Amino acid sequence: MVEKNEIYKCDVCGNVVEVLTVGGGQLVCCNKPMELMTEKSDDEGQEKHVPIVEKNEDKLIVKVGSVSHPMTEEHHIEWIEINMLDLGKIIKKYLKPGDKPEVPFCNHSKNVEVRAYCNLHGLWKSK
Ligand SMILES: [Fe+2]
Repeated sequence: MVEKNEIYKCDVCGNVVEVLTVGGGQLVCCNKPMELMTEKSDDEGQEKHVPIVEKNEDKLIVKVGSVSHPMTEEHHIEWIEINMLDLGKIIKKYLKPGDKPEVPFCNHSKNVEVRAYCNLHGLWKSK
C-alpha cells in the first residue's frame, strides 16, 4: 500500500515520483512495479548524505551532510525538503550541479522532518 509523500523510482527509465494522494493502486512504470525509496539515515555514506539541520531564529539551515556532498553533473543532491508536520506545509528546494548542498528555509514549525535526494544514493532523512 502506498503512502502519502513516499518516493518511488523506476529501475528501467529512472522516473522518480512522489505520492500526493493515496488511491490504493500499485505504482508501475515501464511495465514493472516502481521501487519504494526508503529514507536512510544510518547507511554507508551517511556523512555525505544525512541532512544536518541548524536552527537560527525563524530559519532552518539544512546542509547535506556533515561532510559536504559532491555537486557534480554525475553525482549531486537533486533536492532538499522540509515538512512542517504541524502546519501541513512542505517546502522543496531543487538544486543543480555546482550549487552548494545547503539551503536556508523560513520555518515557523516546531515539528519538522527533513529529507534530501541524491541522484545516485537515493533518499535520506535527518536523524
Ligand atoms: Fe550521493
